[in-house]
Amino acid sequence: MNIVLLGPPGAGKGTQAKRIHERFRIPHLSAGDILRDAVARGTQEGQEARAHMDAGALVPDELIISIMSGKLESLPTGFILDGFPRTVGQARRLDTIVKLHAVISIEVPDGVLLDRLTGRRSCPSCGGVFHAVFNPPRNPDRCDLCGGPLIRRADDNEETVSARIRTYNEQTHPLIRYYTDQGLLVPVDGTGDIDTIFGSIEAYLLEL
Ligand code: AP5
Ligand code: MG
Repeated sequence: MNIVLLGPPGAGKGTQAKRIHERFRIPHLSAGDILRDAVARGTQEGQEARAHMDAGALVPDELIISIMSGKLESLPTGFILDGFPRTVGQARRLDTIVKLHAVISIEVPDGVLLDRLTGRRSCPSCGGVFHAVFNPPRNPDRCDLCGGPLIRRADDNEETVSARIRTYNEQTHPLIRYYTDQGLLVPVDGTGDIDTIFGSIEAYLLEL
């Protein structure tokens, strides 16, 4: 199955994608993780992406489409796409590359997102996601999954989070209409606890 996870910054896309991956054994491709890895390695793509990411803006469509289409070509068994597409232009291009089976839209009001992101602890080694209060790791500095050091993401400060939420509302929210019109949108309430939200997603995917 080919699934897209849509939702604002802090909606829980990465958290739920990991759970879906564990349950259904399909690969998880996070556009943000791929970009952060390129930034950390100092590749040309990473250098081009960095300023946009630090400003809470989107990287140019052509850059992310070129990166993601290269990754998608090597995935014969289905995928969970997290954070791609994020513009109608990206979605149109994706439609020419693969057929999607569902677009799960994790819905969380803007007012909840800041606390989730400023308290987040991320594992750059394995993509593990925790929260100092809502989903604490056993050891505050170490990833429960791989033991790697946990960090606070550079874009999880208050100012950049506000810019990312604005960017989502202006440039990504139109995808709700785009995928509703295609009959693919599956809205999920993202305000409950992590297990309950996963339960709704799992129930839907088992019927797919
Ligand atoms: P990306 O890394 O995708 O960031 P994002 O979309 O802003 O989303 P986040 O990763 O911040 O949140 P999430 O929804 O994954 O939430 P999480 O599960 O971590 O992208 C970063 C940047 O890269 C973009 O700003 C842009 O510059 C660039 N980029 C990426 N894709 C692009 C594209 N397609 N086009 C152009 N540019 C692109 O959860 C958040 C926190 O909440 C965690 O601490 C978690 O433990 C906690 N939490 C999760 N669920 C719950 C719950 N139910 N209750 C309480 N806490 C919860
Ligand atoms: Mg994420």
